[in-house]
Amino acid sequence: MFEWTERWSVGVDTIDAQHRELFAAIDSLLREEGDAPPRDLVKVLDYLEDYVSNHFGLEELYMRRFSYPGFPFHKGEHVAFINDYYDMHDEYDKSGATPELADKIGRYMGGWLVNHIGEVDKALGAFLRDKGMK
Ligand SMILES: [Fe+2]
Repeated sequence: MFEWTERWSVGVDTIDAQHRELFAAIDSLLREEGDAPPRDLVKVLDYLEDYVSNHFGLEELYMRRFSYPGFPFHKGEHVAFINDYYDMHDEYDKSGATPELADKIGRYMGGWLVNHIGEVDKALGAFLRDKGMK
């Protein structure tokens, strides 16, 4: 369902490689929607925490390196994601791996992929390519 294709490419290999992994992780979560118990939910939460610390860190490093003018906005989106992520994690800690939480995370991530990767990261990618990265 969530399959990384060239359409999602930001044009910078290191960023694209991490985005591919994210798509695969979210795809595996969404496959467990419905009546199936979301057994892998904790794995996805762990994966997303790793994504936050490594992937956001990489993008922010590149933004700082080249004094990206869109840095404050882009960083703000990352911070909002982190806050939402921990809200969802708190829900997991309280109620466990419920189908409702799996559905919520799936929907949230679906929106993130389209709006953040599809627009905000792409704008960053275009800027970085302009600076000679690929
Ligand atoms: Fe980003």
